[in-house]
Amino acid sequence: MSSINALAEGIAAPGRPTGKGSIRIRQVAHRYGRGEDALTAVGPIDLDVPPGEFLVLVGASGCGKSTLLRLIAGFETATQGSIEVSGTAPAPGRTAGMVFQQPRLFPWKTVGGNVDLALKYAGVRRDQRAVRRGELLHRVGLGETAHRRIWEISGGQQQRVAIARALAAEHSLLLLDEPFAALDALTRERLQDDLRRVGTESGRTAVFVTHSADEAVFLGSRIVVLTKRPGRIALDLPVDLPRSGVDADELRAAPEFAALRREVGLAVKAAAT
Ligand SMILES: Nc1ncnc2c1ncn2[C@@H]1O[C@H](COP(=O)(O)OP(=O)(O)OP(=O)(O)O)[C@@H](O)[C@H]1O
Ligand SMILES: [Mg+2]
Repeated sequence: MSSINALAEGIAAPGRPTGKGSIRIRQVAHRYGRGEDALTAVGPIDLDVPPGEFLVLVGASGCGKSTLLRLIAGFETATQGSIEVSGTAPAPGRTAGMVFQQPRLFPWKTVGGNVDLALKYAGVRRDQRAVRRGELLHRVGLGETAHRRIWEISGGQQQRVAIARALAAEHSLLLLDEPFAALDALTRERLQDDLRRVGTESGRTAVFVTHSADEAVFLGSRIVVLTKRPGRIALDLPVDLPRSGVDADELRAAPEFAALRREVGLAVKAAAT
C-alpha cells in the first residue's frame, strides 16, 4: 500500500470555491439539561475560521470540544449565539463530514456495507457506489476487508471505516474528533504525515480535536486551546511551520517544533487549572 492517504486526499479535493467551508461562531455557548441539572458545557466563544484552515482544538477532558464539533456539524443547536458554515446555519449530515470520537458504524453490516450506506446518503448513484466504495476503502488501507463484519475488525480498523464514511460525501468541511486516538503509533504517524502534507493546500477546511500537543503542532495551521469547562478560548495560535516540501521526521525534530509543542503543552495545562 503506497500510503494511507484517506484524510489527505479527502481534504485535497480540488476546485472548492472560496467561502465554502468557512465557519463563523458568534457568542456561542451550550447548556445541557435544565434547572438544577443544567450544565454549561462550552462558551461563550467567538471564532472565525477561513476556508482551507486546518484548525486544531485542544483542551482538557470535558471542556466541551466534542460539544463544539457537534454544534458546528448541526447535530445540536447552541442554546446561545449563532453558528454559520459557508454562510448558512449548520444542518446535520449536510454541513460537514464528521469522524466521531467513538466510531459510529452499523455493526451488523460489513465494512463495505457501511461505506455504501454513507455513499447512498451522500446521493451517489447506486451504479457508481461500488467503484467509490473501493476507492475510499483503498485510501484508508482497508481494501481487502470490504466483506468483513464490523465486529470482526480491530478498533483502529473501525475508526478507519468511520474516516472512509466521513469522506464519502465531499463536504467542504471535515470535523474530526480525536480520530487517531485508537490507532497504533505507526498508523497514527502515517495518517498524520499524509494529512499534513496536503491539508492546507486545498480549499477544504478541517477542525480536528486532539489531546496531544504534539499532534496539534504537527497538523494544525492554527491551534485553539480551550479553558476547562465551560470551554472558552484560552489561546489562539497560528502555526508558522512549513507545510510542504519538508520531511515529516525532520519537522518533528526541529527546534521550532519543540518550542511550539512546549508552548501548547503549557497553555493546555494552564488552561485546565
Ligand atoms: N448529551 C449530554 N448531556 C449532558 N451533558 C453532556 C452531554 N454531552 C456532554 N455533556 C457534558 O458536557 C461537558 C463537555 O463534554 P464534551 O464531550 O463536549 O467534552 P470533551 O471536551 O469532548 O471531553 P473529552 O476530551 O473527554 O472527549 C462534560 O461535562 C460532559 O459531561
Ligand atoms: Mg470529546
